[in-house]
Amino acid sequence: MQPALLAVADNIARAERLIESAGAADLYLLPELFPSGYTFQTTAEVAQVAESAAAGPTFDALSRIARRRNAAIVYGFAERRGDAFYNSANVIAPEGLIATYRKIHLFGREKLFFSPGDAAAPVLDLACGRIGVMVCFDWYFPEVARSLALRGAELIVQPANLVLPHCPDAMITRSLENRVFTATCDRVGAETNGDVTHTFIGLSQAVSPRGETLVRLSRDREETATVTLDLAGARSKKVGQHNDLFLDRQPALYS
Ligand code: ACM
Repeated sequence: MQPALLAVADNIARAERLIESAGAADLYLLPELFPSGYTFQTTAEVAQVAESAAAGPTFDALSRIARRRNAAIVYGFAERRGDAFYNSANVIAPEGLIATYRKIHLFGREKLFFSPGDAAAPVLDLACGRIGVMVCFDWYFPEVARSLALRGAELIVQPANLVLPHCPDAMITRSLENRVFTATCDRVGAETNGDVTHTFIGLSQAVSPRGETLVRLSRDREETATVTLDLAGARSKKVGQHNDLFLDRQPALYS
C-alpha cells in the first residue's frame, strides 16, 4: 500500500479497495501507520490523525469489513491514549477488538512523537490460528519473535513501514530460528514532509517455518497477495532427527 500523508479518509478508502481486490481470506494484514502515513514533523500532525484503539474512522471502517468478511484484520495506526501517542497495531475480529499492541522498539524519529509500549507483544487465539503480533523495527530485536514463538505463536504478523534494507531477509531467519510462519505487510513509495524524506522498500512477504519465501511483492507498487498456510507446520520445532529448537535451548548459559 502507498498511503498519502495525513489523508486518513483517502487511506481508509484505499485500504478497503485493496481488501476487496484481495478477495476472501481469514486474516488481512495491512501496513504500519497506514491511515496516517509515516513522516511526521510535529506532534500536532500526530494529534490530527491519531485515534483511540476502539473508536474512530479506521476502527469503524475495518470493523465493518471484519464483520462483513467474517475475518480478522491486523493494521497499524497512530493511537491516542490519554495524553500519549503510540505506534500501535490493532487486531480486530468479527466480534470486535481482540488486542492492541503498542510498538515497544521505536525507530528513528518515531521517538520524537510516540511513547514506547510497555507491554509484551501479544499472542492471540484467533479463529484461523495462534497469531503473534510485532511491528516493523521489532524485527531488529530477535527476542520479540522468539518470545512470541515460545508462547505458541504459529504465525507472526508484522505491519511495517520499512526503510532499512535488511528486514525481508532477516525475517527469513526469524521464521527459521523459531520454526514459525511470518508475514510482513510493508508500504511502498517515498514520503516527504519539510526536510525529511523516507523511501520505503516494499517487499511485503510471507515465509514458512522452513525459511521458504512463499511470496514476496514488489519494491514500488501497490499489490496484494493471498497465501494459504497450514499452521500445523509451525508446531514441531524439530530439525532433523536429533535436534529440537526449543528443547535444545540453553537459556541458563545466555545471560
Ligand atoms: C520502522 O520501524 N518503521 C522502520
